Amino acid sequence: MTRPANAELGKVTFQEECASCHAAGDGFDLAAFSFPDTTIIRRALGHVDMSTSLDIVAHIRRIWVPETRGVESSPFQPGGLRLGTDYEFAINTFGADQWPADLTSEDLRRIDMWRTEVAVKFPVWSIEENNLDWMPDVPVPEHLLSYRNGRARNALDKFYRGRSVVLLRRAVDALSDGDKDRNNPNAPCIMDPISQLRAKECFEARRWAASLGAQFMLRYRRDAPLHHDVHDVWWDVGNVARRTVTSSAVRGDIDNGLDNWVSWMWMGWAFEPNAHASIYLSLGLKRKEMLRHATFHILKSQVERGRNSSTPYRDLRNVPRFSPDTWLMNAMEFGYNHLLERLEDGERPTGDGLARAISETERAYRDAANRLTANQAKVLVVLRDQVLEYLYLR
Ligand code: HEC
Repeated sequence: MTRPANAELGKVTFQEECASCHAAGDGFDLAAFSFPDTTIIRRALGHVDMSTSLDIVAHIRRIWVPETRGVESSPFQPGGLRLGTDYEFAINTFGADQWPADLTSEDLRRIDMWRTEVAVKFPVWSIEENNLDWMPDVPVPEHLLSYRNGRARNALDKFYRGRSVVLLRRAVDALSDGDKDRNNPNAPCIMDPISQLRAKECFEARRWAASLGAQFMLRYRRDAPLHHDVHDVWWDVGNVARRTVTSSAVRGDIDNGLDNWVSWMWMGWAFEPNAHASIYLSLGLKRKEMLRHATFHILKSQVERGRNSSTPYRDLRNVPRFSPDTWLMNAMEFGYNHLLERLEDGERPTGDGLARAISETERAYRDAANRLTANQAKVLVVLRDQVLEYLYLR
C-alpha cells in the first residue's frame, strides 16, 4: 500500500538529500527546466525510496516558476540563439565582416550583451554525458561551508530564508573567499603556486556557487546584472578551466577545458563587461579561432572601463594581438579615438597607470605597424601622437 504523496515531507527530504548539489535548496531547477515526474523519480530513487520520491515530486510541482524551459536549453544564451561561426557573429552584429568605420563609443556602449548573439555556446542546465552544464557533479564541500566558523553555511541559510540579492551576494562571497583562502587548509582553488590547485574540485565548487546566482535570476526573472561578485564567480569557473589548458601542472585535469574556459568567461563578462583584463578571454577565443569575437570583447571592454583607469590602454594594446588583418585598421582607429575621447573629457590615468598608459599607447602601434599600409600607418601615427600629447602633459 502506498500512502498519498506529502509535499511538505518532500520539501524537507529535498533539503536533506538533494540540496547539497541542487544549490537553490528547494529544487527550483527541477521545476524550471521541466523535468518530467518520471525523471525526478528515477533520479530520486538513487537517493531515497519510492514513496519519498513521490513526496519530492509533489513538492517540486508546487514550486512557482515564472517560465519553464527545456532541459537542453542554455539559460542566458544571448538572444536565445547560438550562432554557427565567428564570421556569422560579425555579419549578425555589424552587417559586414569588418569593424564598422563609423561606430562610435556610444554605439558600442549601447550594444546590449543580453541580446548580442554569439557563437559561444553557454552551458546547458544539466547533462549527464559531459561537464558543459551548470550542475555541479558533487555536493558543495563541507570544508567550504564550515570554514571561518561556518560563515558560508550561515550565509546560505540566511539566503534560503530571505532570497534577496544582498543575501545572495554574501553567500557567494563566503563560498568564493573560502575556495582560495590560504587559511582554509582544504581550499581547492589556490593557484599560486599552480601546483596547489585541485582543478576538478575547484571547478565543481565554483559551479556550485555559480548555479546559486543563476537560479536566483531565473526565479525572479532578473535579466539585468546582479551584484558583480555574483557574476565574478561565473568568470572564475572559466578561469580554473583556463588553467587546465594553459598550465602544465594541471593540464587536462578537467574535461572540455577550452570550451569551459571560453563559455564561462564570456558569460561572466557579459554581465560585468568592465571587470576583467581583456587578455584572458581573448586567449581562449584565439584558440577557438574566434578572433572577431575577441576583437569585439576587447573594444567593448574598453568603452565600459571606469574613469581614469589605464585599463583602456591595455585593451588597445590587445587589439593588434587578436584582430583579424581585415579588421585591424578600423579597430585600431576606434581604440585610439576612444582614448582621445576620454582624454578630451579630462580623464587621466592615475599613479603608475600613467607610465603604463604611455607604453601601451606606443606598443599598440608598434605591434600593428607591420600589418598596415603606408597610408594607414600615417593615420594611426597621428592618432597615437595625439594620445601621447595628452599623456605627456604635466
Ligand atoms: C551528489 C550530487 C547530487 C545529489 C545529492 C542529487 N543530485 Fe540530482 N543531479 C546531480 C547532477 C550532477 C545532475 C545533472 C546531470 C548529471 O550530470 O548527472 C542532476 C540531475 C538531476 C535531475 C535531472 C536528470 C536528467 O535526466 O537530466 C533530476 C530530476 C535530479 N537530479 C533529481 C535529484 C533529486 C530528487 C535528488 C535528491 C533525492 C538529487 N537529484 C540529488 C547531482 C545530484
